Amino acid sequence: MRCWFGHTSPNLACRMTVAFCGALHRVPLGAVLRRANRCRFLATATETATTAPRGTASAPPRLPRVLSGVQPTGNLHLGNYLGAVQTWVEAQERTESYLAVVDMHAVTTGPSKALRQATLSAAAMYLACGIDPERCVIFAQSQVGAHAELMWLLSCVTPHGWLNRMIQFKEKAKKQGETASMGLFSYPVLQAADVLLYRPDYVPVGEDQRQHIELARDIAKRYNDLYCAGKDRNTFNVPELRMTKSSARVMALDDGTTKMSKSAENDGSRINMTDTPDVISRKIKRSKTDSFVGLEFGNPQRPECDNLLSIYQVVTGKTKDEVVDECSHLNWGKFKPLLADALVEHIDPIRCRYEELMKDKAYIVDVLMDGYEKANLQAIRTLDRVKKDVGFLTLGDMRKIQKKRKV
Ligand code: TRP
Repeated sequence: MRCWFGHTSPNLACRMTVAFCGALHRVPLGAVLRRANRCRFLATATETATTAPRGTASAPPRLPRVLSGVQPTGNLHLGNYLGAVQTWVEAQERTESYLAVVDMHAVTTGPSKALRQATLSAAAMYLACGIDPERCVIFAQSQVGAHAELMWLLSCVTPHGWLNRMIQFKEKAKKQGETASMGLFSYPVLQAADVLLYRPDYVPVGEDQRQHIELARDIAKRYNDLYCAGKDRNTFNVPELRMTKSSARVMALDDGTTKMSKSAENDGSRINMTDTPDVISRKIKRSKTDSFVGLEFGNPQRPECDNLLSIYQVVTGKTKDEVVDECSHLNWGKFKPLLADALVEHIDPIRCRYEELMKDKAYIVDVLMDGYEKANLQAIRTLDRVKKDVGFLTLGDMRKIQKKRKV
């Protein structure tokens, strides 16, 4: 089959040639992706006609399924990128990925500014970071109604004592006191619903989400115990927890003991994925340091030093030992420009792609629309099973009864 640009492509979905053709023809990325999408639609008709059905000897083995998500509050920052999106990009070839923009979580601490725009922007950032919409399902959480519905049912199997132990709730509620919302309290149950609806094999998240995913696992087990005992199959599978490679959390630039956060007042505390090279250099130059001699990992008295070295390690792709060899004798004045350059080299191509994509919102909408359809299909399938387990009188039940109506 020929790709949009006229190259003959052995790959029906034209996927392999997208980057290649785009580079060759110097076409803006948005246009390349959009055209690739069209190629896919052209391709699927032929593909479905010729591909063997699943389950036959020649059908490909099922890829492990993953689900993950990031909140669309403001710009994605380096912490979101290294803790989540980058790992998804690396895994997408080997997995069937459901990647949500979790906009319902974004309203748990109050109205979220320009949420609609932030949702589009987060989806664009997924794409700019290299998520391939041909391979992954990218969708907005609030559009798939099953998330809220399943959350209710899961709330009814979750002891509230479990939620009382959630560290993130305690931290966030501290700021809001008695006015902290019910939604903030039950945030982890919504997250469990996000996960369990898609029956993923594992959930790739940053260290800060460990407790939430462990809770989702506990909720799944409790649900299965309560509702699936004696049945041949559990409704939920208990997904594995996979910590992302940068297991260290990415900390704030102005305080190595707090997490890099979108909501922190000081913009200088984080590197946004949309920061220009100048801004990145300035933020790194102003980042908090200490007066120890040399640089080192893991000294609890030097959280900023550990954080900046860890960031350097991840963005350069070097090993810890290589970074120690290269940097342990440096002073801050030498190391900071090195770090700033490494960050710019890594982030700037993403920023450029992002800006290109944001000029074409209709394309981002195409991606989200496609994602909605795929995600919704899967989510409804699970939710229907749950409704059956629980014993609700479903529309399906009622139709069956009507069919048997005696005349
Ligand atoms: N709570 C996560 C965070 O703040 C976002 C999230 C919501 C999520 N639902 C999820 C992550 C499901 C993984 C899986 O980063």
